[in-house]
Amino acid sequence: MTTDRAAGIEVNPVAGHIGAEITGVDLAGEPDDAQVAAIRAAVLRWKVVFFRDQKLDHAAHVAFARRFGEPVVLRRRGSASPPDVPEVETTADRLELGGRFGMDHDEWLRRRRHTLLRGWHCDHGARIDPPAATILRADTVPPYGGDTTWSNLAAAYAGLSAPLREFVSRLRAEHRLGVGYQPRPGDDAYVRHLLDHQIATRHPLVRVHPETGERILNVNGYYVEQITDLSRAESAHLLDLLLEQATRPEYTVRFRWQPGSVAFWDNRATIHLAPSDNAHLDFPRVMHRVMLAGDVPVGVDGRPSEAIVGSAPGRW
Ligand SMILES: [Fe+2]
Repeated sequence: MTTDRAAGIEVNPVAGHIGAEITGVDLAGEPDDAQVAAIRAAVLRWKVVFFRDQKLDHAAHVAFARRFGEPVVLRRRGSASPPDVPEVETTADRLELGGRFGMDHDEWLRRRRHTLLRGWHCDHGARIDPPAATILRADTVPPYGGDTTWSNLAAAYAGLSAPLREFVSRLRAEHRLGVGYQPRPGDDAYVRHLLDHQIATRHPLVRVHPETGERILNVNGYYVEQITDLSRAESAHLLDLLLEQATRPEYTVRFRWQPGSVAFWDNRATIHLAPSDNAHLDFPRVMHRVMLAGDVPVGVDGRPSEAIVGSAPGRW
């Protein structure tokens, strides 16, 4: 247990490499500078921190986020998002996204699952400047199912052998929205959507964290299309290996949501697994998130990511 007595808060790690629960702070009660500093340090150290029984409304959620950075304002948000608070995005109906493209939830998941580790992602990872952090609060949660899992990509990188660390830190990879999607026969509304809203970026396979200086294994099962300069076959094998490494249970933490729970993660140093064990259950799950604007990633060689299509730094 790590107690920051000056700030009056307690930071209790919950797994060996990632995750800490923070108690003693009311997020809606305008945390003071010392508390904000202690929370920031805990996020950088533990990659994701959890708060219980918070009473945030949309405005307080945004005000809290603002203490740590600039909230992102999305041009396109879910239909359940509060119209008057553009920084807050609400995910209410799990059928909504597939339904928008004429698919039921099963088909939507099936057509997008090009790898068994498909669900692992960082938020908006195909952009040139993925958000630095996400602050997600639970509104309505199922009585069981619907947990979220995060993995520490700094620990995953450190856990590779030295020769492999050296090799992958020289590589780049293309990250793309909709990678691996298997189109429906005939006219497919999602394919049209992907063509109209293409986002792709060449990111370093190992990025240097802008605040901690740690090396981050920058992979996920959702956006990474191909490792640059390798053959497709080489890339596929190496990606499998790296993704398996990135999601090894020892680098992960799993969180059971309750109404009022808040998770605050470093989106530069983690990937997370959206739940898929509740799709067949008929329980509502309503979550609200605010993301903080992030930097363009930089590789070990000091070179930044390059946009291929569809995004520019700071432009959402
Ligand atoms: Fe996410």
